[in-house]
Amino acid sequence: MNLLDIRNLSIELIHDEQNILAVDKVSLSMKEGEVRGLVGESGSGKSLLAQAIVGVLDDKWYVHADRFHWRGIDLLRLTIPERKAILSRDIAMIFQEPMACLDPTTNIGEQLAEAIDESQLSGFFWQKQQQRRAATVKLLHKVGIKDHDACIKSYPHQLTEALCQRVMIAIALARQPILLIADEPTAAMENTNQGQVFRLLASLNQLKNMAILLISHDLENITHWTNTITVMYSGQFVEAGTTEQIFNKAMHPYTQALVDSSPLANLHLPAKSRLMTLPGSIPILQHLPIGCRLGPRCPRAQQDCVRAPSVTSFHGHKVSCHFPLLMNPKMKKSPLKKTTRA
Ligand SMILES: Nc1ncnc2c1ncn2[C@@H]1O[C@H](COP(=O)(O)OP(=O)(O)O)[C@@H](O)[C@H]1O
Ligand code: SF4
Ligand SMILES: [Mg+2]
Repeated sequence: MNLLDIRNLSIELIHDEQNILAVDKVSLSMKEGEVRGLVGESGSGKSLLAQAIVGVLDDKWYVHADRFHWRGIDLLRLTIPERKAILSRDIAMIFQEPMACLDPTTNIGEQLAEAIDESQLSGFFWQKQQQRRAATVKLLHKVGIKDHDACIKSYPHQLTEALCQRVMIAIALARQPILLIADEPTAAMENTNQGQVFRLLASLNQLKNMAILLISHDLENITHWTNTITVMYSGQFVEAGTTEQIFNKAMHPYTQALVDSSPLANLHLPAKSRLMTLPGSIPILQHLPIGCRLGPRCPRAQQDCVRAPSVTSFHGHKVSCHFPLLMNPKMKKSPLKKTTRA
């Protein structure tokens, strides 16, 4: 059974009396203990999708989906408060800018203590306080902060960005989530700090079997840490498969462009060679192309691309393109299994 099973989720915004489809029928599923990457350049709708999953988008966004199952429960049948109660119990999210998310006026100890759920404590008031303190120290150790005393007394501005991110992860872990959504957790960090945060997430996944949705605009950055990857472009589903399939057997021109622009995939090129990039930039929400939104930038675009492509699946490797790559004649003879449009 899938942990998370979302089909055709759309997120709409009404702007100047115009309906803008910021996320257009995207599907995403996750299994228990899976680490899935969610990749696409800035403005692809990754954060909107993550926020829609945890239910924290504000009222101006209208979210709808054909299916939204969490651990076999059909969340669309529940009231909004019931859905929120389940999701906030089981899913935690960490954000790109930890400094901005922590309260600058409260020390780390208090912020962590607040995050510990009352249901994990028992006994009289003073006993609960002792348990809170012990749980705070344990959480800091879990995220690799050994000098817990100094950290507990510190305010966010006294810590480095990487330490703040560890504190954010500790706050997320306080609720013992089944799924952790990490939205660009290492953006604006130096390489050594990035490695530390990724290693920490990987160890939490292995020790606690915690599923992780790892969001990044940089495909190469997360390939070492994920089992599967979903690629998005301009609010549309592009491709999903194992990390190996995405990196080595990309079927979508956009995924291939992401791979081609990665130094890791181009080690064979002579030093100082220019890496391939797509012309142009991602469209703004007010001027979205019709059909496949990659059309104006796509080297394979043809007339058919003014119609949005449906998703085809080949042994679980899903792609949304009228003219996918690696379509050899043999594959064309046995057509890819059609699924619903995602
Ligand atoms: N609060 C907002 N108001 C209006 N537009 C927004 C808001 N947040 C995001 N957007 C727009 O929605 C699109 C997707 O944004 P986002 O989900 O943040 O992309 P990503 O996380 O992939 O960089 C972008 O075009 C962005 O400008
Ligand atoms: S559907 Fe057309 S425009 Fe879109 S990625 Fe495929 S070939 Fe390119
Ligand atoms: Mg984002």
